[in-house]
Amino acid sequence: MSPTNQQVLLAARPTGFPNPTDFRLVEAPIPEPADGQFLVGIAYLSVDPYMRGRMNAARSYADPQKLDEVMGGGAVGKVLASRHPGFAEGEYVVGMFGWQQYALSDGRGVMQVDPRLAPISAYLGVLGMPGFTAYFGLLDVCAPRPGETVVVSGAAGAVGSTVGQIAKIHGCRVVGIAGGDDKIRWITEDLGFDAAFNYKTESPYQKLKELCPAGIDCYFDNVGGSITDAVLPLMNTSGRVSICGQISMYNLEKPETGPRLFPLVLVRTLKVQGFLVFQYASRYGEALPKLAGWLQEGKLKYRETVAEGIENAVSAFLGMLRGENIGKQLVKISDQ
Ligand SMILES: NC(=O)c1ccc[n+]([C@@H]2O[C@H](COP(=O)([O-])OP(=O)(O)OC[C@H]3O[C@@H](n4cnc5c(N)ncnc54)[C@H](OP(=O)(O)O)[C@@H]3O)[C@@H](O)[C@H]2O)c1
Repeated sequence: MSPTNQQVLLAARPTGFPNPTDFRLVEAPIPEPADGQFLVGIAYLSVDPYMRGRMNAARSYADPQKLDEVMGGGAVGKVLASRHPGFAEGEYVVGMFGWQQYALSDGRGVMQVDPRLAPISAYLGVLGMPGFTAYFGLLDVCAPRPGETVVVSGAAGAVGSTVGQIAKIHGCRVVGIAGGDDKIRWITEDLGFDAAFNYKTESPYQKLKELCPAGIDCYFDNVGGSITDAVLPLMNTSGRVSICGQISMYNLEKPETGPRLFPLVLVRTLKVQGFLVFQYASRYGEALPKLAGWLQEGKLKYRETVAEGIENAVSAFLGMLRGENIGKQLVKISDQ
């Protein structure tokens, strides 16, 4: 056990793209569990796009991250000591333990995870929040039918790479949009997307027109902005759009203006629906066995980009915002 608990705090609210100086690494004593609590030794922590929104002062769907407090976030680890009847020493757990090496918990929002089903890091990705986001955001919001064309933006990330594969499992034709040639190769050659292109080197509208000759039935939107502006005019009548994320706008200092596309929504009778994964919390138990089953059958694959050490959590987070990750971006904290 390391003698202290290293933690990353939010030191300042970022303006535009965050700076390393907006965070502070501190050391605190390792806490002792009181009655009804347990101590978790964190193995991996997750850095996610939603954390950027929480760094702003304004409330969105989650309360703002408080200044000078441990950065909130999902993590997976092992129970090292327990005075809680529901959690035993040696069990693996996933919960909102934050950017630190050790966390105390009272068990609220914590789930035990099975390391025999998959490596524990997968419970922060394909078998965790991003996996559930892909599952419900695609199947519940878009409800794709076999033979339909599904377009996914942010296609080589944690959510997007899972969305595309679930759409393939459901018999759809899948086209991915991502920001790098290595990403395009991974999703087409390894994950089985039918086609994909790099939005940084190709014109999204022209490329989508070429790759979706029968139009687009479902669009899973992870990025928003000009990519989404290029997708919508190619949507078929009664198409469905799942608004999952708008990462292209998270670091803007001023809102962007764009074309007014609601006339298209009207005349093509599109369904455009935003969703938040935690609206589906009571149904995670339905998604987990499906995702784990596809994983075991080899129909669903995942990839992780892993930074090493709590001191690299900030650079991993900033790298993810810049698109340096392929698949799920994690930070390995210890060998629990
Ligand atoms: N609704 C919900 O409940 C929910 C839950 C989880 C996640 N989300 C959203 O889903 C999206 C994906 O999340 P994730 O966890 O899977 O992250 P991720 O895709 O693994 O990582 C973020 C990716 O965003 C892309 N990106 C960054 N800036 C961009 C820009 N200006 N334009 C286009 N793409 C950009 C980068 O890939 P490229 O190299 O391809 O640019 C980067 O790798 C995010 O928008 C997130 O907020 C929503």
